[in-house]
Amino acid sequence: MDGLEKYKDWLRKQNLRRNPFTLEINPFLVVGYNQQITKLLKNIEQQQKIILLTGPTGSGKTSIISYVSKKNNNFIVLNKPPREISGLLSISDFFIRDLPFFKKIFIRKPKKIEYLPFFLNKIIKKPKVLFVDEAHEASIEVLEWFRVISDQVQNLTIVFSALPVFDDILTKNLETLKKRIVERIELNALTKEETEELIRRRIENVGGTDIKPFTYNVIEYIYSRTGGFPRDVILLCNDLLNLGAEHDSEIIDINLIDKKTGKEEKKINLEKLKDLSGKQRKIIDILVEHEPITPNEIIKYLPDYPSDKHALRAINNLLKRLLEEGYVEREKTGKTYYYKLSPSTRTMLVRY
Ligand SMILES: Nc1ncnc2c1ncn2[C@@H]1O[C@H](COP(=O)(O)OP(=O)(O)OP(=O)(O)O)[C@@H](O)[C@H]1O
Ligand SMILES: [Mg+2]
Repeated sequence: MDGLEKYKDWLRKQNLRRNPFTLEINPFLVVGYNQQITKLLKNIEQQQKIILLTGPTGSGKTSIISYVSKKNNNFIVLNKPPREISGLLSISDFFIRDLPFFKKIFIRKPKKIEYLPFFLNKIIKKPKVLFVDEAHEASIEVLEWFRVISDQVQNLTIVFSALPVFDDILTKNLETLKKRIVERIELNALTKEETEELIRRRIENVGGTDIKPFTYNVIEYIYSRTGGFPRDVILLCNDLLNLGAEHDSEIIDINLIDKKTGKEEKKINLEKLKDLSGKQRKIIDILVEHEPITPNEIIKYLPDYPSDKHALRAINNLLKRLLEEGYVEREKTGKTYYYKLSPSTRTMLVRY
């Protein structure tokens, strides 16, 4: 069986229709962030004018937008802010969408940005929410117009979703817009329970049961490694799932992970020792036998140099490199340096 078949076979045995840990954005898979979602919906309910949803990349901003807007026709989502004013003009299309057919065909869309607020006021009858994802990518000019729109259009709430750098952009260029943000909603990370729920939800979504094939101690491990940061959780789960498939393991528990890290360390270290030049390797061999040792003492084990002076210079150069790369350590006694293997080199050599 080739690798792909083996992988598919393993998924089948786990009752998983496919890998649950892809970076898809699916409102059904959103868990946690209850406080933040409540705060967002409360401000929308209050018809606040401008709200900011912020958090580092991968914290779940786009996911929260997809979740709250999934069934709500009055929520309009721009996945990216318009780059130019002409693009901003075309947001009127989203609002025309809901008009009765006969109104839609006779409507005259604004041709100039100056007319957009007036136009929107005319056609927006019910409270609407405009989400602008990736708002930190908008030009200052576009952001300025969002401010004008927000000031002049009734029944409209704008929710900017942006990386934390958006704050700096506003502070530097658009204090007036910054002052209008009534609420900042920050996404940071899920709790341990929510992290577990994220994993369970994804596994069950593709036909699996509970958190299988993970065990509870692996959930602990995932949480401690990622701090519950959603994108990192998914990426680590993906790695661990691949590890389970590779080992054709029925469960993915902490022992399997230990086995993997042990194996990897060994692989890296062996490769690292192979990277050493013949001369460096020779120095290491001498240290194994005679450490702690001074450069002067090393000379006698290296008979190939034309003179002791040549040998000493070469040895010092080799030791310098080995020291910088962490293979050896040195200690000063009086005026003399004594060299010995670093603990990690010693471990490598034992395995070697
Ligand atoms: N609350 C959540 N519940 C479940 N999965 C989540 C949650 N938040 C984020 N995720 C998952 O984490 C990944 C990253 O989330 P998302 O793309 O929404 O982050 P983002 O903040 O928009 O990042 P970026 O700034 O890079 O656009 C996605 O695959 C998403 O499915
Ligand atoms: Mg996003």
